[in-house]
Amino acid sequence: MDTAAPLMQVQGLSVAAGGPGGRVVQQGLNFEVLRGEVLGVAGASGSGKSTLLRHLAGLDVPAAGQVLLAGQDLNQGSEATQAALRRRMGVMFQAGALWSSRTLGDNLTLPLKLFTPLPRAAREERARFLLALVGLDGAFGQMPAQLSGGMRKRAALARALVLEPELLLLDEPGSGLDPMNAARLDELVLNLRHHLNCSVVMVTHDVASLFNVATRALYLDENEHTMTAIGAPHHLLQHGPEPVRLFLQRGAPA
Ligand SMILES: Nc1ncnc2c1ncn2[C@@H]1O[C@H](COP(=O)(O)OP(=O)(O)OP(=O)(O)O)[C@@H](O)[C@H]1O
Ligand SMILES: [Mg+2]
Repeated sequence: MDTAAPLMQVQGLSVAAGGPGGRVVQQGLNFEVLRGEVLGVAGASGSGKSTLLRHLAGLDVPAAGQVLLAGQDLNQGSEATQAALRRRMGVMFQAGALWSSRTLGDNLTLPLKLFTPLPRAAREERARFLLALVGLDGAFGQMPAQLSGGMRKRAALARALVLEPELLLLDEPGSGLDPMNAARLDELVLNLRHHLNCSVVMVTHDVASLFNVATRALYLDENEHTMTAIGAPHHLLQHGPEPVRLFLQRGAPA
């Protein structure tokens, strides 16, 4: 494996809301996700961050352009080929989306049962390991409804990690959390990168979180309908275009 090559390449990408026939919300997107980085995706509400994330996950088909994971187009080849590519990524949606009628243990072990040859004991061991990693030791038998909002977020994160993704895609992981728990989640994302050696794309409009965890950030401008900046958050705060500087100034560290 060429470890210097970017993990993901986004080339001339246009994304439409609600599928390829819908309104194009972002176009002309060109960027890479480097191995080991946490790439933040910022922009105003409605600028298209979640729509972009769905395209990076291979869940929506681009209106134009392509997304490559380790050199392979997410939307080319047989359905089995594409599904195998998608499974190399872990996704945490904005709403968290655990199976509400299943225990946390089931939430984590079912993907392993479906997609790996691991025997039951090993599946449970991995699920317990990940729950412990996100601070939910002992919650294996609990139902999502028994958890607080912050615990559900962390459980969704654990589930996104269960198939050992090379790339973790997170949509507003800290939203709805109080500042303490949001900061804990940031720390968790940084730790995961170290312990599990995966790259992360994190959508957020929490500027403090961008400064805490993002190696680089890209900015989706809702008026220009394209990305107007990419770089280290501190660099963009000083040298980015004005709308980006204003966006970042709201939550820049003092
Ligand atoms: N399934 C859909 N069908 C039609 N329009 C949609 C759909 N999903 C999103 N949109 C529209 O696409 C635009 C971008 O939405 P998106 O959810 O990607 O924004 P966002 O940047 O993630 O916003 P937020 O910060 O509020 O989460 C919005 O105008 C939204 O109304
Ligand atoms: Mg969103």
